[in-house]
Amino acid sequence: MSAITVHIVNIVSPTYQQVWQVREEVLRKPLGMSLKNEDLGMDANDTIFVAQTDDKVIGCVMLHHLNAGLMKLRQMAVYPEWQGKGVGKLLVQHAEEYASEQNYKKIVLHARMVAADFYSKLGYHIVSNVFTEVGIPHVVMQKDNGLDLLPNQRRCTFV
Ligand SMILES: CC(C)(COP(=O)(O)OP(=O)(O)OC[C@H]1O[C@@H](n2cnc3c(N)ncnc32)[C@H](O)[C@@H]1OP(=O)(O)O)[C@@H](O)C(=O)NCCC(=O)NCCS
Repeated sequence: MSAITVHIVNIVSPTYQQVWQVREEVLRKPLGMSLKNEDLGMDANDTIFVAQTDDKVIGCVMLHHLNAGLMKLRQMAVYPEWQGKGVGKLLVQHAEEYASEQNYKKIVLHARMVAADFYSKLGYHIVSNVFTEVGIPHVVMQKDNGLDLLPNQRRCTFV
């Protein structure tokens, strides 16, 4: 198997179309929805992380600036055939590392209930009641980000 690498891209990167596709296939189509009906204006200001192998995007996650010190992690998606192989964890670790480097103290996210245990394993805890988003139950989860990591404590190298 080829190596899985994580990269930061933006909406003008050629790769962005593949980011759109993985979100559409994994996050919207199973709900009978489409990104075509959504305003994706936030994407332009977000930091977009992609996991790739053989130049193909197999997963993504995005970080959105909320306020000084606080970021929202959103649009976490891994293609079904790549799930359960550590890709989601790798993406979140890269996003957290990036947030730490940018001095963000905390990350929040809206977790689908079916994914809450995935985030729990990564150190996030539930801070809300259950609410509905895109027609399915969610909870708000958050994590105080590991800050001021010394260079030799870093888990990830951006490539
Ligand atoms: C949820 C998702 C992003 C996880 O990505 P992944 O690449 O499959 O997860 P990983 O392989 O990195 O798993 C890391 C750990 O979490 C666990 N895990 C993964 N998905 C889980 C889930 N849905 N429920 C409970 N545990 C889960 C894994 O077993 C693994 O545990 P381990 O470290 O003890 O071995 C992915 O399954 C996905 O895209 N699901 C559909 C879309 C979705 O629900 N996105 C989240 C929206 S909030």
